Amino acid sequence: MNNLRPVGVIGTGKYVPEKILTNSDLEKMVDTNDEWIVSRTGIKERHIAAPDQATSDLAYEAAMKALESAGMTGSDLDLIIVATITPDSAFPSTACILQDKLGAKGAAAFDLSAACSGFVYGLATATSFIQSGMYNNALVIGADCLSRITDYTDRNTCVLFGDGAGAVVIGEVPEGRGFKSFDLGAEGAGGGLLQLEGGGSRLPASAETVENKKHYIYMNGREVFKFAVRVMGTATDEVLRKAALERTDVDLFVPHQANIRIIQSAMQRLELPEEKVVVNVDKYANTSAASIPLALVEAAEEGRMKAGDTILMVGFGGGLTWGASVLVW
Ligand code: UT7
Repeated sequence: MNNLRPVGVIGTGKYVPEKILTNSDLEKMVDTNDEWIVSRTGIKERHIAAPDQATSDLAYEAAMKALESAGMTGSDLDLIIVATITPDSAFPSTACILQDKLGAKGAAAFDLSAACSGFVYGLATATSFIQSGMYNNALVIGADCLSRITDYTDRNTCVLFGDGAGAVVIGEVPEGRGFKSFDLGAEGAGGGLLQLEGGGSRLPASAETVENKKHYIYMNGREVFKFAVRVMGTATDEVLRKAALERTDVDLFVPHQANIRIIQSAMQRLELPEEKVVVNVDKYANTSAASIPLALVEAAEEGRMKAGDTILMVGFGGGLTWGASVLVW
């Protein structure tokens, strides 16, 4: 990517809904306890969208902050990508709803479905468009309302997820900065390990699909855990190799926030000290496509990166998919 127009982050924003669901709240809903949740996942609480909030509403709040921090308005955008697995509806896309709300007249807008890897997939897609000269300023958002597809009678999954949105504006940056490499991948054969079966063309919504809980997330936690630990390592090494960097060159590691044990195993493998790793899974739980941008934006807001720092983002999720990127801040 070295000879191409340098593209990087020029604005950031995040949003989580007001309502907080704590582990002790969940203790009253299913047979679980704070000790189990914290020791197995690292999660203490998660934010839950209000009944009148949909994914585009969360995305809008994050987008407005990202535009403001870039010193832009909607009319400066020529591309909007919303990574989500919980769009407002099947169509129109959540990106189109947002395009209208932001006044981004004429901007191309589409949703991208790569589950928890969606934000990194979105960054790679938008970067390619900008490097090719097709567009100049893109808004990339990871936003999900997983609470809408979570079965709050299933203790295996309901403790794990939360709602939120993170957004970045990307565009041309000074030479030497910006995205240095991407590593995207998929293992479709494992798709059944993490899925929502109902409501699509294979299994359209019916009284039976509702009865059989086919509109909720199904996950084989143990198998997804193994996949996660494996690809966090391989994708990180691969994206560093593509950027011609070493593990020791990483200033800040921004992993998908699904489970503290997955993050810790990646930290050990990569020999990264705690201060170089962003962790906020305790506050937000797993927010799918919003997870990496929430962590990235929060770290930026806390002043954890300075110009020229090397940031490594890596995520994994449904599909199965993974995505990693090296970004010079
Ligand atoms: O974004 C990508 C998607 N997701 C992930 O990255 C998740 C990956 N997987 C995981 O994070 C972990 O596998 C889980 C957190 C989901 C589960 O942790 P685990 O250490 O793999 O537990 P387990 O599935 O082996 O279950 C251990 C026990 C089971 O009881 P038995 O069968 O041993 O008697 C579960 O029924 O823990 C039980 N259990 C619970 N107990 C209290 C499962 N959920 C709960 C709960 N509270 N909420």
